[in-house]
Amino acid sequence: MRARTLFASLLLSAPLLAQAASSDYPMEPIHPDLDDKPSLQAGFALYTNYCLGCHGMKFQRYERTADDLGIPHDVALETVVPAGMQIGALMKTAMDSEDAKPWFGAPPPDLTMVVRVRGAEWMYNYLKTFYIDETRPFGVNNAVFPNVGMPHVLLELQGIQRKGCVQKPIILPNGGEKRDPLVPGKPITEEKCGELYVEEGTGRMTPAEYDKAMYDLVNFMFYTSEPARIQREWLGVPVLLFLIVLGCFTYLLNREYWKDVH
Ligand code: HEC
Repeated sequence: MRARTLFASLLLSAPLLAQAASSDYPMEPIHPDLDDKPSLQAGFALYTNYCLGCHGMKFQRYERTADDLGIPHDVALETVVPAGMQIGALMKTAMDSEDAKPWFGAPPPDLTMVVRVRGAEWMYNYLKTFYIDETRPFGVNNAVFPNVGMPHVLLELQGIQRKGCVQKPIILPNGGEKRDPLVPGKPITEEKCGELYVEEGTGRMTPAEYDKAMYDLVNFMFYTSEPARIQREWLGVPVLLFLIVLGCFTYLLNREYWKDVH
């Protein structure tokens, strides 16, 4: 009975554990897609360019990644694998975690499984919500992970994002924008504070391009958090076909057995 009570309370507390990783920021949804190979490849390149310097993926090899993502080895060696690394090497970071502690306060954790722990949605919104905050050591804060000790390494792509007051169109209950009755087409706006906005022209990417790049990066990290998923999804089709064929034979055999009974 005791063990059962313990088991039940563990089961009941599972949603609480899952809750711990969430924040009250209104999250934008994301739907990872492991069939989208170009997206996964773009995410892989972004990861090695912008993240691997600090965060390793020590449970992932370049070779397996290239194979799963459909990248020929020579292309991978030329484009994504850091110079001097073998294709069979683990995706470790060159940063020494002992060095990193005094630099950042907290050492950058390994990110192989982070999406399994935090969720793809959390990750996507985290990467989109770094904003200028002069009171922080690196001059930036994060809306999803307040006071995180990571600099905004993608600032050159996204541009300067600030938190402040912006004019936003008033949204009607039917989802449309409230319009000015005197000037056709002009939306009526109201000031909203505590909103994130990117200063136009400060980044290499438009907001839409940045969103797509972050989608690709999170899609890639979704893949590394459970690489077997790619094969498992692919395996499902032959397994189902096999079951259907087996089903036909079982039916025929069954008919054969009962033929003489009637
Ligand atoms: C200059 C080094 C540096 C680079 C480059 C960097 N990070 Fe970080 N990152 C850190 C540090 C330091 C922390 C730990 C911060 C803390 O715990 O307060 C961190 C924390 C994180 C976390 C939170 C992990 C957790 O679960 O607590 C995520 C997620 C993350 N980084 C993702 C990324 C991604 C994705 C990239 C590439 C776009 C990246 N980082 C590039 C230094 C870096």
